[in-house]
Amino acid sequence: MIKSNAPRIVDAFYGVIEQNQELLEIVEKNSSIEKLKRTLADFISEMFAGKIDEQFVEKRRKIAEIHLKIGLEPKWYLLAFGQLQDSLLEVLSENLLLPEDFTRAAKAVAKFINFEQQLVLEAYSEQEKSSRRQSEAIKKRCGSKSNRQPLHSWILSGRPMRLSRK
Ligand code: HEM
Repeated sequence: MIKSNAPRIVDAFYGVIEQNQELLEIVEKNSSIEKLKRTLADFISEMFAGKIDEQFVEKRRKIAEIHLKIGLEPKWYLLAFGQLQDSLLEVLSENLLLPEDFTRAAKAVAKFINFEQQLVLEAYSEQEKSSRRQSEAIKKRCGSKSNRQPLHSWILSGRPMRLSRK
């Protein structure tokens, strides 16, 4: 059911991206809408293939890292998952007429999206931690090599500025 509606879900997804100049520029700089429509369709069918193992999780992490590298802000990434969830629920509501069937499927979709978002947030927070560690290491190194006084203490001293070393 989801697979046969994948083109519609994917079109709705990229319809939203195309309306946002910032996102469109990211897409055009790194790939193309046509290519990404195919990768998103694969992504959706894997989501419903029913096989969640270590390889699946690793692939999802890699996808999150790819988005991190292209500079996609987490707010856009998470909003996009919201858009994807809306389309999936629309398809389910049209096809699952018994309320109990719809509720069960909708819960499964919500869990899935939540899980994907967790992987994305993890990847972004790992990146933030590692760049913080890096900048602290640089600060430490610079601080220990330099015995110069910081600029603000020179300003407060009221001494004239020495431009040459002589
Ligand atoms: C629900 C959210 C999203 C999902 C599930 C998703 C899914 C994917 C997948 C499966 C790929 C292919 C990764 C690979 O090469 O293995 C991809 C790549 C890409 N996505 Fe997304 N995406 C999402 C949100 C977005 C958004 C909001 C943008 C907006 C700019 C975006 C832009 C891109 C770009 C430019 C690439 C290509 C990166 C490259 O090849 O270097 N994605 N996405």
